[in-house]
Amino acid sequence: TAATPEAELPKGLRGVTFLTVTGVTHWTDRTFSFTCQRPDSLRFRSGEFVMIGLVDGERPLLRAYSIASPAWEEHLEFYSIKVQDGPLTSRLQHLKPGDEIVMRAKPVGTLVHDALTPGKRLILFSTGTGIAPFASVIRDPETYEKFDEVILTHTCREVHELDYGKDLIRHIEEHEFLPEIVGDKLTLVSTTTRESSETMGRMTDWLRDGRFAEATGAPFDPATDRVMICGSMAMLQEHKAICEAAGMKEGSNSDPGDFVIEKAFVD
Ligand code: A2P
Repeated sequence: TAATPEAELPKGLRGVTFLTVTGVTHWTDRTFSFTCQRPDSLRFRSGEFVMIGLVDGERPLLRAYSIASPAWEEHLEFYSIKVQDGPLTSRLQHLKPGDEIVMRAKPVGTLVHDALTPGKRLILFSTGTGIAPFASVIRDPETYEKFDEVILTHTCREVHELDYGKDLIRHIEEHEFLPEIVGDKLTLVSTTTRESSETMGRMTDWLRDGRFAEATGAPFDPATDRVMICGSMAMLQEHKAICEAAGMKEGSNSDPGDFVIEKAFVD
């Protein structure tokens, strides 16, 4: 289909871009990631999302996906859940290298530097596949130009679900130029809530009972901490309430603030 002239495509498929999948990794029976070609014309800010999916008859079946790769990377990477009866992910989870996905390339989102006021420490709170936009943000040099310290928290139900985040840190440490940019500024705090591990509990609880301060070396400070949050609706609401109770203001692209939120993909 990539070679089909635009005018010969069914009406519903005009304006979408076809991209070849280059790699697929299955992390758990609930999550997988994949890489694909990046259109030459695609410009985005680390942390943004695009609409991607598959062709369903004569139309595209699209969902919002955060781009997990940084803006400077040549390919695109996505991290997805697998929902057995999910309209898109039930099919997307069977992707193989050489297959094609479709994209409506209009990157948008609030988990971007432009939506935050200056600060000293950047805290990225994520649960589940909500880590995806932060996989992009922590590989962006701008993050380390703007902040002295970057804390990424990742909370999942089970231990294996933390693998994607841990592997990401390994990838950064072994990268050809990222270690020089990141230095010792980045810390990953990963916790589980349903399977026992050395670090257990929700970050919302950790913030309230002092474990967050202990793990990161300093208590949460609304004056100098800036926050990005990505996860389920319930998680967003609870983190947002904690930020607001601390006197922080929610930011947007047109009106930067102290914290920003975005719902992680669900299918
Ligand atoms: P828990 O196991 O205690 O519900 P989910 O897969 O349901 O989106 O959950 C992903 C992770 O987010 C789980 O570890 C879950 O913990 C945690 N979580 C769910 N709700 C909240 C919340 N309101 N605040 C913080 N973490 C949450």
